[in-house]
Amino acid sequence: VTIMAAPGFAQDYPARTMTMVIPFSAGGPTDTVARLLAERMSADLGQQIIVENVTGAGGTLGADRVAKAEPDGYTMLLHHMGMATSATLYRTLPYDPLNDFDYVGEVVDVPMMITARKDFEPTDMAGFIDYVKANAGNLTLANAGIGAVSQLCGMLLMHSLDAQLTTVPYKGTGPAMTDLLGGQVDILCDQTTNTTQQVQAGTIKAYAVTTPERLDLFPDLPTAVESGLPDMELSVWHGVYTPKGTPAEINERLAKAMQVALADEGVIKQLAELGSTPVAADKVTPEALKTKLESEIARWKPIIEAAGVYAD
Ligand code: MLT
Repeated sequence: VTIMAAPGFAQDYPARTMTMVIPFSAGGPTDTVARLLAERMSADLGQQIIVENVTGAGGTLGADRVAKAEPDGYTMLLHHMGMATSATLYRTLPYDPLNDFDYVGEVVDVPMMITARKDFEPTDMAGFIDYVKANAGNLTLANAGIGAVSQLCGMLLMHSLDAQLTTVPYKGTGPAMTDLLGGQVDILCDQTTNTTQQVQAGTIKAYAVTTPERLDLFPDLPTAVESGLPDMELSVWHGVYTPKGTPAEINERLAKAMQVALADEGVIKQLAELGSTPVAADKVTPEALKTKLESEIARWKPIIEAAGVYAD
């Protein structure tokens, strides 16, 4: 009897520990999503997935690491929509966001929130807008570097208010939040995966959310749009990528593990408690993520060009 041999990787894969690179600090919002996902994917794949924080340059160093990694299915990147915005924010990147990666699938959409240190004077969004416009020169705005969504959100805020604040870059909003809690910086626009517990504990102040509708978790918090800032609508989508040249079977296998992970009730519940939801299962595919990245690069290009902010 002749047994037709299928390519070895398909049967044995994965045969050893895998790495999920995330391009921001441990303890921050991207890290939170990655650790939730990696744990459940691991269970489905039968191999450990180590989350590695490769930080710096607004997420572009971590992306570059994966662009240049072996396309063998053992290294993947979890990144958010900074994958699309850095294509315009950086005049030159050491990698091509569209052509140096293969795609696995979309993950979650995370709302953003405009927050400030606990003792920041304004008590509501209208007061915040007036106060920031009047005191811009004396205020600091934390972000996680050019290419981070906190930077994008802060840029849209300054553009909308026609106010220039002093920006303070960190390697992730994990450390930015530490400084906001300590009162070393004034304002941070950050994802609900990082802000929710602090707002609930009263350790920071929240003024508005960036979603089209108010959040179930914070029904009293207005949207930025209803507060008169029509350009401040953004929801942070995430994707998992592999280096270009990774066998299609492997990307499909990883996508399946992601679909299983994102359908897990524990994951759905934990994300809901942080104001976030997994994307629909039909978006957790290589094709859906590729289409998303292409359309998001095109969507953000004119907005970023209008704001005129570049990394170099
Ligand atoms: C992080 O994990 O630190 C954030 O996603 C950074 C950001 O993009 O604001």
